[in-house]
This record gives sequence, C-alpha cells and structure tokens, in this order.
Amino acid sequence: MSFNFDERVERYHTDSEKWLKYRDQDIIPLWVADTDFRVAPSIQQALQARVAHGVFGYAHDQGALANVTADWVSKQYHWTIDPDWVVPLSGIKPFFSLLQQCLLSTEQRSICHTPIYPPFTQSAISSGREQRHIPYPIFDQTNLLHSPLPALSHQDRLFLLCNPHNPGGRSHRRQELEQLAAYATEYNLWVCSDETHADLLLEPGLSHTPFAALSTECEQRSITLLSAAKAFNLAGLGCAVAIIPNLELRTTLRQAIALRMPVPNCLGVTATLAAWREGADWLNAQRDYLRANRDHLAAHLTTLPALRLITPEAGFLAWMDVSALGKSDPHKWFEHHGLGFTDGAPYGDPQAMRFNFGCSRTLLDLALSRLTQAVNAA
Ligand SMILES: Cc1ncc(COP(=O)(O)O)c(C=O)c1O
Repeated sequence: MSFNFDERVERYHTDSEKWLKYRDQDIIPLWVADTDFRVAPSIQQALQARVAHGVFGYAHDQGALANVTADWVSKQYHWTIDPDWVVPLSGIKPFFSLLQQCLLSTEQRSICHTPIYPPFTQSAISSGREQRHIPYPIFDQTNLLHSPLPALSHQDRLFLLCNPHNPGGRSHRRQELEQLAAYATEYNLWVCSDETHADLLLEPGLSHTPFAALSTECEQRSITLLSAAKAFNLAGLGCAVAIIPNLELRTTLRQAIALRMPVPNCLGVTATLAAWREGADWLNAQRDYLRANRDHLAAHLTTLPALRLITPEAGFLAWMDVSALGKSDPHKWFEHHGLGFTDGAPYGDPQAMRFNFGCSRTLLDLALSRLTQAVNAA
C-alpha cells in the first residue's frame, strides 16, 4: 500500500497550535513537534469506529495497551518486557515534574544534558527541585559522553536522558549507554529515559537501544517513556506509557499518577493500539519520506555556510547554529523573513533554531527558498 505524504492537509480550520500561531501572517510554521501528515488509514478507521460509538467515559484498556506495548518493544527494539511493567500515561511532559517530586527530596537533584527539550529543565523548577546540567556536545555528536561526566554527590539521584536526543536527533549508541549505565551504578542513580522519538530512526544501519534493555540492573533502575505521539502524529490525543520494571518504584509512581494525572484520553488509547498493532507499514513509508526531506534539507544547507546544521539521525527536527548571522534575536529575525522556527533559547542556546521538516516537500522547498533569501540578505 502506498501513502501520500505530499498531500497538503489544510490545518488552519482545525485547532492546530502549530498553524494557528501564524494564521494571519505569512510565516511558515516550522516549530512545535508535530508533523503535517494525515495519520495512517488504520488509525483513522479505528478512531472513526470509536467516535461512531458516541460514548466517551473514562478509559480503562484492561491491559490491551500493556500487551501491545510489550509486543511493540519486542518487535522494534528486541526488548522483552513483562506487560505488568507498563503504566499508561496521559502524556510525558506532566510526568517529569511528578517524577522529580516523587523520587527526590527537596535537597536532592536531577541531572540532564543541555541543550535539551525544555520540559526536562522546566520541570525541575516547577517541582521545586535542583538540577545539575551537563553540557552536551551537540555539534560534536561523535559520542554522547564526549564531554566527561562530572563526579556526583549523594544529592544527585535521577538522570533524565533523552534518547534519541531532542533537539540534536542523535540516537545514542549501545557503548555510550553502557558508559552511562556504569555511571548510574557508580552513583546509584535512577534513570528516566525519554525514548519518544525512537521509532523515527532515519539513519540506515542504526537501531534503537532502550537504556533499560542493556541489563537487568539497568531495567531495575529505569523508567522508559514511550508513546506513538511523534512517530504516528498523535500528539493531540493524550496517551503515552511508562515502562517501570522495579516493583516498588512502579507501585509508588502508579499511585502518584492515579492521583495527579488524568487517565489517558480514550481516543488516544484507541489510536495508540491501532498504531502499534497495524501501523508499521505506514511508519516505514513515513520514515522514507522524512529521510528524503532530511537529506534534501542537509544538501540545501551546504549552500549556506553561515548556518551550521546537525543532520539528525532520528526524528523530524533539525538543529541549526545561526550565530554566524550575528543577529541579537535570530528567532524574530527569521519570523520577519517568513520562517517560524522553534527558538533555541529555552533549549539552552539562543543562537540556535530548531527546524521542523515534518511537512510536505512543497512546503519544505518554500521554506528553503525563503531561508536562502534571508541568509543572502543578512
Ligand atoms: C523528547 C520529548 N518528550 C516528550 C514530548 C512531549 O510528550 P507529550 O506530548 O506526551 O507530553 C516531546 C514533544 O515534543 C518530546 O520531544
């Protein structure tokens, strides 16, 4: 079956955060992390059948999500899990604050690399916990642990890992994860690994390794976060999972989640089940399309040496260093030239932009021609 990712799906008349931000301006929305692609037909059919039923009470999937998650991680990452380890979530972002409040006393800290997807750092602030930042060598991605990991104290208790990395798009190699595992053992850290972009690995020959899958010891100190939201474009449907092998930790977190987070959206559960049961062909086709978009973007940027691009190994987000343009507010400057990127400032680098290329090739080409005009006029 073939799928049409070239179709321009008009999104202004829906509630699209991405498109409505620039509704009355000639600015191409290339920011928040959803794609412009219509979902897989199997997902749309499952949702239509669920909507036709017409009753939308609290969802309890009776273990379906756990079983489907176990099948998915086994097929995709060769990781065998017990479905009992799976805890459904209504989203990943709110879980970060909850996790830090549950696992850390007010004197204890979490640790993460920066630049990073902002909720990693914002959640520490909102949960009233300290955080230690390790500079991530985003423009020298030969090794996650290229910059040495600092010595820690007994206050450092929780490592927040993003794999594949957002915004760098690197898929961390087994050897790097093994070094991180040794570090976690040395300092007895919990490791929360956000692997929500794992199904969008674009680089031929690479495969995703969940941190937890390294060893039983890693499983026992880990929380793995997954969802179909990025890979299947379901971000508005509120459904994700945490895989928590350690029974005591799982019991604590399950109770906190039940009290403090909404249950997953019933349509999100339906869509996630359809994605992980029947969406693999669509996902493969989408990966081919995104890989071609990524390569097209990277080839174009070789003509613009003022911009330094990281070609992502995974996902549909590309990180660009634009400091050579010498703009005090590059995000505004690009908007003025009709390009609505994600501002790098909340990620930890105000001279970087994040370019969402999860769009039709036609729109990408329009964005690239505006980019050339802007940079040449700088
Ligand atoms: C690494 C990462 N984690 C989590 C999320 C958000 O997840 P959710 O929509 O389930 O809160 C995103 C969204 O961009 C992301 O990039």
